Amino acid sequence: MATTNGTSVLDGDHAGVSPRPLVDPFARAITYLRVSVTDRCDFRCVYCMSEHMTFLPKADVLSLEELDRLCSAFVAKGVTKLRLTGGEPLVRRGIMTLVSSLSRHLSSGALKELTLTTNASQLARYAAELKGYGVERVNVSLDTLDPARFRAITRWGELDKVLAGIDAAQAAGLQVKINAVALKGVNEDELADMVAWAHGRGMDLTVIEVMPLGDIDEARLEQYLPLSMVRSQLSERYTLDDIDYRTGGPARYVRVKETGGRLGFITPLTHNFCESCNRVRITCTGTLYMCLGQEDAADLRSPLRASESNEPLDAAIDEAISRKPKGHDFVIDRRHQGPAVSRHMSVTGG
Ligand SMILES: C[S@@+](CC[C@H](N)C(=O)[O-])C[C@H]1O[C@@H](n2cnc3c(N)ncnc32)[C@H](O)[C@@H]1O
Ligand code: SF4
Repeated sequence: MATTNGTSVLDGDHAGVSPRPLVDPFARAITYLRVSVTDRCDFRCVYCMSEHMTFLPKADVLSLEELDRLCSAFVAKGVTKLRLTGGEPLVRRGIMTLVSSLSRHLSSGALKELTLTTNASQLARYAAELKGYGVERVNVSLDTLDPARFRAITRWGELDKVLAGIDAAQAAGLQVKINAVALKGVNEDELADMVAWAHGRGMDLTVIEVMPLGDIDEARLEQYLPLSMVRSQLSERYTLDDIDYRTGGPARYVRVKETGGRLGFITPLTHNFCESCNRVRITCTGTLYMCLGQEDAADLRSPLRASESNEPLDAAIDEAISRKPKGHDFVIDRRHQGPAVSRHMSVTGG
């Protein structure tokens, strides 16, 4: 929580000390950190989790103070964009303390953007506060506008709460981008309507291909819908013009002529986006993944807990970045139906 003198109760402030910027072996500067603040969630989306998940014991999960210290170490090393994710970031107890504390890096100018990806179930409660701490944009994951389908996809979710969360976010002045996972035979007939809905409310929409992450209860091939097919279906109703707009992420954008809005496609399977990768991910246990699609990882919790000084942590981060791979290679076909990597998206945070 920020105090009146501008410091933070989570502040042990190590940011601003360490100098060496993060550049990987392929000369890509690492400026974007995604942090999973919890592995828990109030939904059980069919492509993300199995219904009966075993969550991590509390002692393994980084405290809010530790998360702050870890994020701040990356900010000191040149990370300018920080995304909180999960699991569901807004179900982590005390999450606003962390947001408040991290916002000091926005005030100092070290951080250009602090944002989050959320299922929006709790957003009505937190939207105004987030905006107050300098969050300008949020990504909301929403795959359907049909309440029964929504319940089927999320198993536990209520569409009304999510829509109220989106309303509150827009009312608070947050920019909202909608992310929808394209699911064969589930929401493919609805994506054109979702484009009209999102653009009608001034929100970008990005469609995402299902990725083979973690064991779930259903076969991946059943869910997998290549975005080339989505694009050709959408082209029957809309004129899609390729545009150069980039957010630094993997999405490729088109302008929808009829709505004037932007539509993104994230195609990890049919199109590789690794060349310009500027990001790394941290789990809520402090494991650093240098690539979403590879198993290689570095433990940052041990150096974090081993010393009050950031030296061991900084050294571990440098060493890990020197191992960032060139890219990944996901495949879902008849021969590869199991997960490409064993962890769920809710672990690495999407
Ligand atoms: C893991 S969630 C975490 C944040 C938050 N709970 C949410 O749903 O926005 C982040 C994103 O990953 C997406 N996702 C989860 N599992 C996926 C998978 N196997 N393939 C593609 N996207 C996935 C979700 O749809 C969501 O947009
Ligand atoms: S996609 Fe997000 S909301 Fe759905 S189960 Fe995974 S973490 Fe939860």
